[in-house]
Amino acid sequence: MSLVNIARSGAIATVTVDNPPVNALSQALRQGLWEAVATCDADPEVQAVVLLCAGRTFIAGADVAEFGTPPVAPHLPDLVARIEGAAKPWIAAIHGSALGGGFEIAMGCRFRVALDSASVGLPEVTLGIVPGAGGTVRSPRLAGVAAAVELVTTGRPVKAARAQALGLVDAVVTGDLVGAACAFAQQALTRPLPPPVSRRAIVAPEAGFWTAREAEIAKAAKGAVAPLRALSCLRMAVEAPFAEAMDFERATFLELRGSEQAAALRHVFFAERTAPRPRHLAGHEPLPLRSAGVVGGGTMGAGIAAALRDAGLPVVLIERDAEAVARGIANLQAIFDGAVKRGKLTPEQAAARLAGVTGTTEYAALAGVDLVIEAVFEEIGVKRAVFAELGRVCRADAVLATNTSYLDPRLIAAGVPNPHRFLGLHFFSPANVMKLLEIVPVPDTAPAVLATGFALARLLGKIPVEAGICEGFIGNRILKRYRAAAEGLVRRGVAIAAVDAAMRAHGFAMGPFEAQDLGGLDIAFLQREGARQAGQAVPETLGDVLVRAGRKGQKTGGGWYDYAPGERRPQPSPAVAGLLSSQLAAAAPMAPEAIAQHLVAEMAAEGRAILHEGIARAPADIDLVEIHGYGYPRWRGGPMFETRDRG
Ligand code: 3HC
Ligand code: NAI
Repeated sequence: MSLVNIARSGAIATVTVDNPPVNALSQALRQGLWEAVATCDADPEVQAVVLLCAGRTFIAGADVAEFGTPPVAPHLPDLVARIEGAAKPWIAAIHGSALGGGFEIAMGCRFRVALDSASVGLPEVTLGIVPGAGGTVRSPRLAGVAAAVELVTTGRPVKAARAQALGLVDAVVTGDLVGAACAFAQQALTRPLPPPVSRRAIVAPEAGFWTAREAEIAKAAKGAVAPLRALSCLRMAVEAPFAEAMDFERATFLELRGSEQAAALRHVFFAERTAPRPRHLAGHEPLPLRSAGVVGGGTMGAGIAAALRDAGLPVVLIERDAEAVARGIANLQAIFDGAVKRGKLTPEQAAARLAGVTGTTEYAALAGVDLVIEAVFEEIGVKRAVFAELGRVCRADAVLATNTSYLDPRLIAAGVPNPHRFLGLHFFSPANVMKLLEIVPVPDTAPAVLATGFALARLLGKIPVEAGICEGFIGNRILKRYRAAAEGLVRRGVAIAAVDAAMRAHGFAMGPFEAQDLGGLDIAFLQREGARQAGQAVPETLGDVLVRAGRKGQKTGGGWYDYAPGERRPQPSPAVAGLLSSQLAAAAPMAPEAIAQHLVAEMAAEGRAILHEGIARAPADIDLVEIHGYGYPRWRGGPMFETRDRG
């Protein structure tokens, strides 16, 4: 098979693209399609052309791997124009995803027929670019300006049914897509053809539309430039002739393609796709995952149980006593109720999720499960007692995992029968939402068990990163350094609010101090106190001073900041200034960019130490941890990527 194969049945030619895995538009494929137009045009028997794809999906876009090199002809906008201007009408037959350049090709076709399971979209902004082959110029001609703005500036694909309602596709079919598309083509030939999309009119939006969207998009983008640039392209599509808007879009695309933000987002794109299937586990089959147990139904246990239920696994939830079981189930109920409120689940689905959880105090209920995740108090004695029970009741091949944040998993594993099936699975709160899963093998962990950890992550839709054993693994260890560095700036006379504002300006949702106020200062304090009691020399932090004064964060009405009752807006605190005054230098303002550079450099320095010690396998893994666990701005690529040229 070549990349593009042409067949004919009566008056209909089928052009089949076959470029696995996702039919990305490499230069060779563009060339193949370019020639296919000429071939079909030259065949007098052909009256219409159905464009379809082999494999799992329609064309998923430009080949992202080619973005680092200069574009080579035929360029995509020219190819789309050639398809649109072909002597015979083309009909796109879409299964899987028609994304980016793939959907731009589809919009160059005269009609689009989609399988009901398909989706279409223009995700370019998620790669730091704008559509580069007419996406912003043709989509408003099909779907209207408001829908096009949503499609292009969020990058979120839409399912076939909605795409049809919006006018992005002409027909949605079930079953035999090719048969349906050919039948559609036959029908279409019996009627006058609609004009090509480029010649259709756009209805201009009401006054004030652009200003309102601009404000919304700038707020949501938090420093990412592509969404606003995409909006400018859409505005040009409305206000300028087609050709001028195409030129403007292409120039914007080429400029952004070479930008630092686009390079960062490509780095994350490929890192996310590499992480779930690490090379060193190739050939190690994961164990089956059909049912699971969770011990502890608190913040983490309930979230983990919800994540397991969302993935369809039946769950046994073990708690200490009947009241704690009821609390654990109530925690789960609250999670599913929240999903109903946000429109993510129907009440029936939520009820079914909850019905799949068996809450009990009886460990015997875990006898048949494939995997147990422990999420009880962070105390070695409590955890070891739990694993002694698990060792007694679980199948000898059941995978046993701990969600510990800071304890040494080797100490928890000691005494577990068949320790090769033990590992750390470190979830992030809320566990049913946060994408990161740190997977921490102990020396005994068997490769198949480690592979099962990765398989679990795939099942739960999480991004897995393998971490070695040290205090805090990858993420919390870097967090500790980050917070210490932020405190260091405050000691040197930088205002607390200035540090937070600088990190927000850098793209973080929150700065380090406001984040502590939200999560509570006491957790890290207790961990430091524990270490002190165990005889370790842990220096007193500024946070310790605040906790000792009863300032544990928002929940106590104040931490690093004061909060008016019932309010979440941080106010600089005279009380904090008083408590810390003896430890702080005179006010020494620092430029926001310098603050951010310093704190990012500190995170990266810890990252390099972590790599050096073999705690992380690759810089990209550290970037994924920061982006998916700690709110690092995705468009900066993570601390390792951001500082890659700074030694
Ligand atoms: N270019 C190059 N490689 C791509 C690619 C692309 N556009 N999309 C996916 N791949 C690769 C992945 O890296 C992965 O490679 P690997 O197997 O070696 O790790 C392989 O294809 C499979 O990808 P997934 O694991 O993501 O496969 P799924 O089946 O889970 O998902 C998908 C399929 C929904 C198509 C998903 O891959 C996806 O969303 N791809 C990105 C689509 C995209 O962003 N397109 C826009 C590109 S920009 C553009 O078109 C510009 C234009 O306007 C000019
Ligand atoms: P939590 O206090 O909310 O919940 C712990 C639960 O364990 C309680 O419901 C308690 O009744 C139950 N429990 C205690 N002993 C038990 C026993 N012997 N048998 C059965 N159940 C028992 O604590 P949280 O926050 O859920 O933390 C649990 C674990 O997860 C800890 O190891 C913690 O370090 C870790 N973790 C916490 C994160 C967080 O953000 N809260 C993030 C990642 C990990």
